Amino acid sequence: MAGHPMTGRPSGALSGSVRLPGDKSISHRALMFGALAVGETTIDGLLEGEDVLRTAAAMRALGAEIERDAKGCWRVWGRGIGALAEPDDVLDMGNSGTGARLLLGILASHPLTAVLTGDASLRRRPMARVTEPLSTSGAVFIAREGGRLPLTVIGARDPLPLDYRLPVPSAQVKSAVLLAGLNAPGETRVVEREATRDHSERMLRHFGADIVIREIDDEGHRAQEILLTGQPELTGRHVQVPADPSSAAFPLVAALLLPGSEVRLKAVGMNPQRSGLITTLQEMGGDITIENAREEGGEPIADLVVRGSRLKGVAVPAGRAPSMIDEYPILAMAAAAAEGRTVMHGLGELRVKESDRLAAVARGLALCGVEVTEQPETLTVTGCGGRPPGGNNQAIATELDHRIAMSFLVLGLAAERPVLIDDMTPVATSFPDFAGLMRGLGAEIAEP
Ligand code: S3P
Repeated sequence: MAGHPMTGRPSGALSGSVRLPGDKSISHRALMFGALAVGETTIDGLLEGEDVLRTAAAMRALGAEIERDAKGCWRVWGRGIGALAEPDDVLDMGNSGTGARLLLGILASHPLTAVLTGDASLRRRPMARVTEPLSTSGAVFIAREGGRLPLTVIGARDPLPLDYRLPVPSAQVKSAVLLAGLNAPGETRVVEREATRDHSERMLRHFGADIVIREIDDEGHRAQEILLTGQPELTGRHVQVPADPSSAAFPLVAALLLPGSEVRLKAVGMNPQRSGLITTLQEMGGDITIENAREEGGEPIADLVVRGSRLKGVAVPAGRAPSMIDEYPILAMAAAAAEGRTVMHGLGELRVKESDRLAAVARGLALCGVEVTEQPETLTVTGCGGRPPGGNNQAIATELDHRIAMSFLVLGLAAERPVLIDDMTPVATSFPDFAGLMRGLGAEIAEP
């Protein structure tokens, strides 16, 4: 078997209090905005996962000075908007769609030529969703068939502001357009009909950009308009990175599924565009208490106390998808143990993540003896109302997808039989110490 196999074994109650690693979305942005600002940016709680380290390397290759002082504590000396230098080699963004797409936004409005590539997963993912709007700024992209990486970007010498309505709810596309607009004179405008995570907007404001967000009527639809004034002077700031709610999702679901568990997750990001999983699990009957809600560095955070619960199936509306887009694989594991049917609607975007997550989850659950139906944009899981059967010694294919790997290991903790995954290595992209942290809570995760 290629890769690094790992097993999640039936476990007893989990207990303990933990701080999860830093938010991946916010970590990428802190490095990028720091590199575009003038002066020193200090970052506390940066996620030191492979995806974010690729972004740090890319921003260095573009001329920013970036140093690590201690675990999670980083300093960036930016070059200022429009002042990044041409990289003298290919920028390899690894597994990271966020890193690649946001960086394309930055490069589009710099007068330089750069080549981007990534791993086999990233090279399969659609980039036209960003290169199309970014082309209107005057940038030129030469990509593989289907707009895929590796691709070359020739940034605009005199970038134009952009005006774009998102055809799919995507924070990455929205952020790429805003980042390109930073170096264009005049106003850049993005319209989104479905709200997506707003970390870029919050951080732009934090670094001193002039950004206005308002509700509008967009041809009969309620929408949000984001207006960014181009060529602001961004100044270096301090960024406090909250714990990643998408990483918290794994111990959270594990604690719900294992009777008698009580786990405290500290300082978890509670941005409303990220907290759809908590809403859904509470609707399923999950005992999740939100304590000590506060704001830190422009982002809402809170401590979560999670206790073992009997869950029941629910229908998850399509409109909730943007606020829990990365959490469907782990929700599907909770659904497998819940009583009754869980129907998840509006999942088209899951097909273009690190893997086709709809297909990967459906295949893996079927292998673990769970009743599951996959439709083009819908996943239906019929839960066992207790421990699902679990693995049969055939490894779950993780397909270079960290969230598929972690989700099935959690299923193994709560199943009758262990669940084996074929490759643990992708977990390092977002949650390098996943196995250690879960073991610390009492989870049995081990080499086969
Ligand atoms: C992200 C946005 C989401 C999410 C990804 C991180 C971001 O992707 O799935 O893990 O940091 O902006 P889309 O915006 O493409 O849906």
